[in-house]
Amino acid sequence: VEPLKVGICGLGTVAQGVLSVIQKNTALINRRAGRIIEISVVASRNPRPEVDLHGATFSNDIFEIPLRNELDVIVELIGGEDDASKVIKLALENGKHVVTANKAVMAIYGEKLLQAASASKLSLGFEGAIAGSVPIVMNLTEALIANEYELIAGIINGTSNYILTAMEKEQKTFQDALREAQDLGYAEADPKYDIEGVDAAHKLSILSALAFGTSLNFEKVHIEGISSITLNDIKYAELLGYSVKHLGITRRAENGVELRVHPCLVSSEHLMSRVEGSMNAVLVSGNAAGETLLAGPGAGALPTASAVVGDIMRAARSNFMPITVGESGPHILPIADAINPHYLRIPSLDRTGVFAKVATILSDYNISIDAAIQNEQIAVDEGDEGWVPIVILTHAVSESIMVEALEKVQKLPDIVGSITRIRVEHLGTDSK
Ligand SMILES: NC(=O)c1ccc[n+]([C@@H]2O[C@H](COP(=O)([O-])OP(=O)(O)OC[C@H]3O[C@@H](n4cnc5c(N)ncnc54)[C@H](OP(=O)(O)O)[C@@H]3O)[C@@H](O)[C@H]2O)c1
Repeated sequence: VEPLKVGICGLGTVAQGVLSVIQKNTALINRRAGRIIEISVVASRNPRPEVDLHGATFSNDIFEIPLRNELDVIVELIGGEDDASKVIKLALENGKHVVTANKAVMAIYGEKLLQAASASKLSLGFEGAIAGSVPIVMNLTEALIANEYELIAGIINGTSNYILTAMEKEQKTFQDALREAQDLGYAEADPKYDIEGVDAAHKLSILSALAFGTSLNFEKVHIEGISSITLNDIKYAELLGYSVKHLGITRRAENGVELRVHPCLVSSEHLMSRVEGSMNAVLVSGNAAGETLLAGPGAGALPTASAVVGDIMRAARSNFMPITVGESGPHILPIADAINPHYLRIPSLDRTGVFAKVATILSDYNISIDAAIQNEQIAVDEGDEGWVPIVILTHAVSESIMVEALEKVQKLPDIVGSITRIRVEHLGTDSK
């Protein structure tokens, strides 16, 4: 069999990881792929003489790579949207299999790209785009394919999880935890995509398309990040038996599919609450398999390269299943329809009767209180200027009703600051 000839676009973190995995595991990769995998050329904006290309040639023209006759697979690892999608499109038009780790491109252009790939019987692998080495695409599209999926819920942004874990375990403030994540190279210099939920939303829209056939429309994801979570919220959550996690959630409901990314209270008894640091985890609930939880390193050169090289090898064996998504998929439900219990932190004047007023408004809207935190348990650094937080956990209620009730609560003269609201997410079999 002829060697499989691969061209890589990009020579950054992940591309160097790919070169290194192929070098490190050459013999077993070739044996398992059934043919020799040869990196023929690497293209990038600037050469990096310090990187050993292991015999591959270097080109500074990424657009020339997809046109080369001798290449079988094009690996896109430049990131960004415009040039990356152009490279992938060109590659498919020229009959090349494609592998990418680019979630932004897949979330925005994925539908057309997947259609083009399947029309030409080419593979378009994007396992590395979602959760590093965690094989979630493979599971949803192959191993668990006999299931009707009910819920996919995941910690799919390592930076956010790193920050929340540092807040919970080391009592760091959000700002300190973010700075630490940046120092360790987890967060981007501009960490907006990570901490404001955009990166997780890109990934979730791909997962939802795979699981529920929703069209790949990342604009319909309800997105909230973690920047408004305080250390005190995390402490109160802990007192109530929960951890604060940033989750991407897509769930099949009666009239459509939920698609939302936001911080959640997750029961400290659920395995998901123990996914710490930069780890990722995805829970898949299917009507035959029950609940499957996949967890592992969510990013980094070698874990991401593990997924990318796996996709290259699958292309070499030509036994991939074509992935089709969307177009006329189910309706995506507005966030107003979501039904959850809620955690509320309501800054109020330290007077008797305020709790009763809040409870009365909630009860007017049929919102019942599951638990509340009393004055003596409040965090030490709150409540020192004549005000105290009222912390309440409600039973499940629809988002639109909760929003309306809280507008009323917020207008009470005893309320001295904005109310924090975090949804509580019961993941399958947790006991709460
Ligand atoms: N890093 C991770 O842990 C991780 C995990 C999962 C997925 N991903 C995804 O993998 C992709 C690559 O990420 P990365 O971390 O490896 O990025 P990176 O370290 O910034 O590397 C990007 C590489 O592509 C080159 N490049 C960028 N834009 C280019 C353009 N328009 N023309 C030519 N060359 C260009 C850069 O060259 P110069 O340096 O010369 O500019 C650099 O060599 C992204 O889509 C990212 O979202 C990354």
